[in-house]
Amino acid sequence: MSVSPLPYAPTPFDGHPISDATRAFLARDHQLFIDGRWAAAFGGEVMETRDPATGLVVARFAVGEAADVNAAVVAARNAFDGGWARSQPAYRAALLRRLAELMQRDAQMLAELEVIDSGMPMFIASLTVSNCVEMLHYYAGLAGTIEGTTTTPPAHVSMEAEALTYTLREPVGVAAHIIPWNVPLSMAILKLAPALAAGCTNIVKPSEETPLTALALADLIAEAGFPAGVVNIVNGTGPGVGAALAGHPGIDKVAFTGSTATGRRIVEAALGNLKKVTLELGGKSPVVVMPDADLELAVPGVAMATYFLGGQNCMAGTRIFVHDDVYEAMIEGLVAFSENLVVDHGLAPGCMIGPMVSQAHAAKVMGYIARGLSEGATLRTGGQRLNRAGHFIAPTIFTATTPDMGIVQDEIFGPVMAVQRFDTLDPDEIARMANNSPYGLSGSVWTRSLSAAHKIAARIRSGHVSINCHGAVAHNIPFGGYGQSGWGREFGRESLDNYLETKAVTARL
Ligand code: NAI
Ligand code: MG
Repeated sequence: MSVSPLPYAPTPFDGHPISDATRAFLARDHQLFIDGRWAAAFGGEVMETRDPATGLVVARFAVGEAADVNAAVVAARNAFDGGWARSQPAYRAALLRRLAELMQRDAQMLAELEVIDSGMPMFIASLTVSNCVEMLHYYAGLAGTIEGTTTTPPAHVSMEAEALTYTLREPVGVAAHIIPWNVPLSMAILKLAPALAAGCTNIVKPSEETPLTALALADLIAEAGFPAGVVNIVNGTGPGVGAALAGHPGIDKVAFTGSTATGRRIVEAALGNLKKVTLELGGKSPVVVMPDADLELAVPGVAMATYFLGGQNCMAGTRIFVHDDVYEAMIEGLVAFSENLVVDHGLAPGCMIGPMVSQAHAAKVMGYIARGLSEGATLRTGGQRLNRAGHFIAPTIFTATTPDMGIVQDEIFGPVMAVQRFDTLDPDEIARMANNSPYGLSGSVWTRSLSAAHKIAARIRSGHVSINCHGAVAHNIPFGGYGQSGWGREFGRESLDNYLETKAVTARL
């Protein structure tokens, strides 16, 4: 088989400088982190992880299996029973704050590792590290607010005697966090921070595409002084470690972010011991541009609703509905914006969009682009891979799309926009178009009309709707899906509740 030559030979990190700390970290022997110690994987298996912007291997890491999951569960259970579950909230808060300080200290290395392993641009990686720091402080603050209520005791007790009923909030137990590759460090922290604040012990399974920042985090967790077994990191494949966690009888709770198909498998595996499950799954979020939209805001805003993280983002706005009155101006603006975007190695100055995470994923996205063409959509810009090493795809716009097309129905998870035009002002009709999807994670409406904005926001069936912006998530705003976008909410107070049980205690006095 002949392989066509690359336009130029890739060099590590595309020749961009990285810090000595990052270089030293990459060169390490990356093991599993179980019971507060680094340990070789039971089966001795190792995988490679690559820089998706060059395709080159950047590190090797130990890959666990069911036996390693068992060891992690024993460690986590012992830590839970050994005091963590009943520890003082102020103690847990102090450890969370210490971890935040250490992440701040190592922000540059963490951000570089995230760029190198996942392909994300540096500006997003830096932002995710600072968001993690904020998130840790936020849940440190909430740890001290975990409290129950008092309530009227049942009549059959209180009629005979004085009685008292109160409720306690208690940690769920051992929690498994199965996380994806698109924003790996954020995903780990957004699940760990509330779970730790609540008093759960934890096993994190990073994606096999992006194992590195979770391993760097393990060092900081140890340095912060978390007791052994409170956080365990077990790298491995989905069918290996992920499935073993989802099905394990010793795990009380699983929090998953990833594809809807894998989410279903996790629910099935969790049936055995009926562990608590939260799911943050796929999306195909609507973006509605009304005739009175401020186009100076809407053009870059709508474009980045699709292209943020190269579209590898569950809340991406990828079904774009543009009103007739602004259609031509909007498309012209979107095409120009797309063609001027800096698509490059995430370490390159000014990079706005990095590569797809892997060759396989890029091939899947290109498959959807081919499908859009065969379905009869009009390709306005992009549609091709960049002529360089790495898994780069040009920002792509399809117009003349219809609701039944695969590129309009399926989550593509790439920089591909599918535009439809409409001519109504009726919020119910607009909502019918916007809600024509099995998903319901995000969405946005662009208009100067307060009335239209809130009427449409109220009618879009999704967990988060933004007005004149898109996907404005933050640690204190609940986030999650309607429909097949998932179960439950993360971020905010609601995420703490995911890791707490409520117990009612009645005393006859
Ligand atoms: P995936 O859902 O298969 O992977 C996410 C995590 O689940 C990874 O850690 C993986 O190892 C694990 N996993 C896979 N199979 C498992 C199983 N049977 N049991 C337990 N854990 C398992 O996603 P993948 O294959 O990386 O990407 C496929 C598509 O999923 C993407 O094209 C995108 O559409 C969607 N996706 C959505 C994300 C989101 O943020 N909601 C993030 C990543 C992917
Ligand atoms: Mg990688």
